[in-house]
Order: sequence, then structure tokens, then C-alpha cells
Amino acid sequence: MPMLKIFVGTMYGGALDVAEQVKPLFEQAGYEVAIFDQPTLEDLTGSTTDLALFCVSTTGSGDYPGNFVPFVRAIDEQSPSLSGLRYGLIALGDSSYGDTFCGAGRSLDELLAGQGALRLGERLEVDAMETFMADDEALPWAEEWIETQQLKVA
Ligand SMILES: Cc1cc2nc3c(=O)[nH]c(=O)nc-3n(C[C@H](O)[C@H](O)[C@H](O)COP(=O)(O)O)c2cc1C
Repeated sequence: MPMLKIFVGTMYGGALDVAEQVKPLFEQAGYEVAIFDQPTLEDLTGSTTDLALFCVSTTGSGDYPGNFVPFVRAIDEQSPSLSGLRYGLIALGDSSYGDTFCGAGRSLDELLAGQGALRLGERLEVDAMETFMADDEALPWAEEWIETQQLKVA
């Protein structure tokens, strides 16, 4: 069974909730799914990752949530080759923060691309000003992502 790893960056649990809600969709699509809520680079590169999904909210002024900082710092410092990594990205934010809207998700996307990883499809940006429960947007997005990117293996 291929392995889908979901990497979570969260302050208040919204992004973790998204990860837990979309997990069964990927299981139904034929994946073994692991959620990392204290992710390390080793979690990504230390064993096979057939597909990755990042669920990351933004704090401060466009900053990564604290639990996600070690992961990003390790990529910055070790500059691993991530070519061959295919991923999707769900960014949580709030447009009332203006220019830093979904800043962490956007920075992560750039960081991963810079290491050679390939994003499949468009990044989802969930705006807390418009959507109270991020799941309401994330679930249909994940269903469509699986469909349009032909990710179903079972
Ligand atoms: C102190 C604080 C700072 C925030 N800064 C930003 C920001 O710069 N950009 C943004 O898009 N959202 C910002 N947000 C909004 C959160 O990203 C948003 O509420 C998100 O849904 C939280 O997800 P979580 O429950 O996974 O932590 C901020 C929220 C708080 C409480």
C-alpha cells in the first residue's frame, strides 16, 4: 500500500482537524495514512513517502506555527533534495491579516519547490473570514484533488 504522509502546522488545532477529516478519504483511495503533528525532516525523508499533504496555518505576521518550525529549519539548514516528492498543500489563514494572508503556507510552498518537490494541483487557501470550519472547504478540495490528480490506487 502506498504511503501518504500528512504534515501539520497548527496553533489551535484547526489544521490538525483538517488532517484528521481528510485521512479517511485517502484510506478509501488506497493509501496508508500517517499524520505528523510534530513533524521532523526525518519523518519526510527517513522512509518512503509516496505522497505528502501539508496542512499548515499561519501565525504571528505570516509565520509558521511553533510545532512546524523545526521541520522548516531543518530544510533550510540541510537543504535536502526533495525531487521525486509529490505533494498537496492546504493553507489556513485569515484575510484580515492582509499581506501576510496564508504566509506560512505560501512560504512552505516556495521552500518545497526550491528543493525540487512537485506540487500537484493548486494550493488550497482557507480564509477564516469566510469559512468558519476549515473542513467545509478542505474535504471537497481533497476529494477533487484525488480525482483530478488521479491519485486513487485501489
Ligand atoms: C496571533 C495570530 C496571528 C495570526 N496571523 C496570521 C497571519 O499573519 N496570516 C494569516 O493568514 N492568518 C493569521 N492568523 C489566522 C490563523 O492562521 C487562522 O485563524 C487559522 O485558521 C488558525 O489555524 P489553526 O487552528 O490550525 O492554528 C493569525 C491568528 C492568530 C491568533
